[in-house]
Amino acid sequence: MTSLTDIKSRSMTLRRSILSVPAGNARALEKVPGLDCDAFILDLEDSVAQEKKTEARDNLRRFFRQSPRDRSDERPTNRESIIRINPLESEFGRADMDLVLDVAPDVVLIPKVERVAEIQAVADILSEAGAPDTLSIWAMIETPKGVLNAPVIAGADERLKCFVVGLNDLRKETSVLALPGRTYLVPWLMQVVLAGRAYNIDVIDSVFNDFRDAETFDAECAQGRAMGFSGKMLIHPAQIEPANRHFGPDPKAVEEAEAIIAAFAQPEAQSLNVINLDGRMVERLHLVEAEKLVALARSIADRKKAS
Ligand code: COA
Ligand code: MG
Repeated sequence: MTSLTDIKSRSMTLRRSILSVPAGNARALEKVPGLDCDAFILDLEDSVAQEKKTEARDNLRRFFRQSPRDRSDERPTNRESIIRINPLESEFGRADMDLVLDVAPDVVLIPKVERVAEIQAVADILSEAGAPDTLSIWAMIETPKGVLNAPVIAGADERLKCFVVGLNDLRKETSVLALPGRTYLVPWLMQVVLAGRAYNIDVIDSVFNDFRDAETFDAECAQGRAMGFSGKMLIHPAQIEPANRHFGPDPKAVEEAEAIIAAFAQPEAQSLNVINLDGRMVERLHLVEAEKLVALARSIADRKKAS
């Protein structure tokens, strides 16, 4: 049996706010250590012009030399560092992977994934080079084939830990308009969430481009949370606080979760799978959810203490 104290001492990897930082922008890279995002994507792909790819890789070498190691497996409240590479089959892909092997971030993010083989190719490079199992792969799902194949891609490899949805590319490829509420995109988004959850991997919601429109961003975060996303990919520091708020646990829900854990810890509840908690049926499956929520709240509190 796990007590509330045990659960509170567990930590989870936080993935509420994932900020994209163009690797070609030295000024933006300098700001990263001072930002309160849960993870950051150092982008070598779409935000970096072709003739700037080499300079961008050099910037990242410098960045990793200067930043102290921040491995999520050793210090779970710390932030995941993610490098978004160019597609492996592009002229930049191999050099990007050499950089990944050199600086060892927590995650390599593959763009525009459409097939299992693309994940396996990156996994093979990592394993052949002796990269630790803790170096994870994330996949951008941002093309029609990517969405259609998400259910098979999700089970591609042990290293795959997360999907990130990219609506800018998906809109471009499908002609779906950017309407309020993302009306016609919702079925596709939910399909990606379902595929990820079926394989126990996280799913991160797409970026929102209009970073000065705080009101619509707020609404989109609330929608993303309600749809089951773990967090949101961000493009600007102003989006960090609202994303942390929306994808973090509601304090009332944490209180309820603590009450559920305490109720199941009572001696008389030991052999029960379902109990009456103040007139509400609570099952053991709710206990699992409650434990996760309390661990998440704990990880956030630890992060605040550490900063
Ligand atoms: N990461 C880190 N710092 C950032 C940042 C980011 N993504 N975006 C902006 N900043 C910093 C700026 O450097 C600036 O700092 P300073 O005032 O100390 O110079 C501050 O935040 C305010 O920025 P602001 O002037 O409002 O915006 P900008 O014109 O500098 O940048 C964008 C706007 C859109 C170009 C920039 O936010 C950006 O490049 N975002 C990421 C794009 C990306 O990664 N795309 C690929 C994935 S879709
Ligand atoms: Mg893209």
